[in-house]
Amino acid sequence: MAWFKTWFNTPYYHILYKNRDLTEAEAFISLLVMDLELPEYAEIIDLACGKGRHSVYLNNLGYRVLGLDLSDESIAHNRQFENEDLKFEVHDMRDKIDGGKADAVFNLFTSFGYFDDPQDDKKVFSSVFDILKQDGYFVLDFLNEKYVKNTLVEETVVERNGIDFKIKKKIEGQHVIKDIYFNDKGEDFHFFEKVKLHTLEEIDALATECGFQREKLYGNYSLGVFELETSPRCINIFKKVGV
Ligand SMILES: C[S@@+](CC[C@H](N)C(=O)[O-])C[C@H]1O[C@@H](n2cnc3c(N)ncnc32)[C@H](O)[C@@H]1O
Repeated sequence: MAWFKTWFNTPYYHILYKNRDLTEAEAFISLLVMDLELPEYAEIIDLACGKGRHSVYLNNLGYRVLGLDLSDESIAHNRQFENEDLKFEVHDMRDKIDGGKADAVFNLFTSFGYFDDPQDDKKVFSSVFDILKQDGYFVLDFLNEKYVKNTLVEETVVERNGIDFKIKKKIEGQHVIKDIYFNDKGEDFHFFEKVKLHTLEEIDALATECGFQREKLYGNYSLGVFELETSPRCINIFKKVGV
């Protein structure tokens, strides 16, 4: 089974990343929706929503939100947050999205670059394109491949909930691979993450091929200027124009 289907569906993924900065995530979303000037009650799809941190906050801001994720465990967890304007569904981002057209689709926090087959990357872009309204936005918040290469720390140990996660990172070909080793209650575990280091040119080519126009590019969660060598993030804002 593909690594991204198993690892993200385990409780350990959520334990390892539990200290993610919620304040930063919410501040980012607030800046983003202001920047996009989304209409009141806009329809937003949070594609690969995980445990729904961005979906819930967007809904709190008054937007109608559909959170989609491949992990049935995460979607089951998110059901508790549902209301008339906030829904969650299990969905593979490579598949066509059903339902009414959206004003914006967000793919946040490196929820892309997982697929071996380049056709799958195209499928993501075209399913997003199809579900967007005319002039709708696609926000792809991806890693900056140059920054990843420039700052790679080969080995670290992170302690969470009494578990020592030993993390080894390496670049192999065009991928960054993160091996995660730990022992819980006497049992040894090994998971990994493998993300394709799509360059800015490759992201642009995918977007253009599907009919998107680049609107903006930011380099961090404060929506600062993108610098190729030093920006931690590559936050792409594409628009569906002229169909
Ligand atoms: C790095 S996490 C980010 C989650 C969320 N966006 C956040 O910021 O908390 C990546 C997410 O992508 C989801 N995912 C992986 N492959 C997917 C696929 N093919 N279709 C939809 N979601 C997928 C995982 O289940 C996981 O929740």
